[in-house]
Amino acid sequence: MAPSLFRKFGCAGCHTIPGVPGADGKVGSALSDMRRRVYVAGVLNNTPENLASWIVSPPTFSPRTAMPVTGISERQARDLVAYLYSQ
Ligand code: HEC
Repeated sequence: MAPSLFRKFGCAGCHTIPGVPGADGKVGSALSDMRRRVYVAGVLNNTPENLASWIVSPPTFSPRTAMPVTGISERQARDLVAYLYSQ
């Protein structure tokens, strides 16, 4: 489920994502060791809720960020958070 969402919403084109074949983007950082990070994009404390909120709407938290709104839903974002924290 999560790997197909990473492709569907373009995450894989911008990020390298562990365990997702073809997700080798270099626009943003590699999404590895996410559960050990202190901050999300340097602006939010790294909690499951905050990480999902960032994925849904980065400019809400960082107005000049290069990461776009992809159209992913809150529920889908929570699936990605569960995946990322399991890696
Ligand atoms: C057009 C390229 C692009 C797309 C598409 C994109 N991102 Fe990003 N992403 C970025 C950039 C650039 C940053 C760094 C943002 C910043 O620090 O302001 C980022 C930051 C992040 C972060 C924070 C990483 C960290 O090191 O703290 C996460 C998590 C993330 N993206 C997940 C996703 C997910 C999940 C998707 C798909 C729904 C996605 N991104 C789609 C470019 C992209």
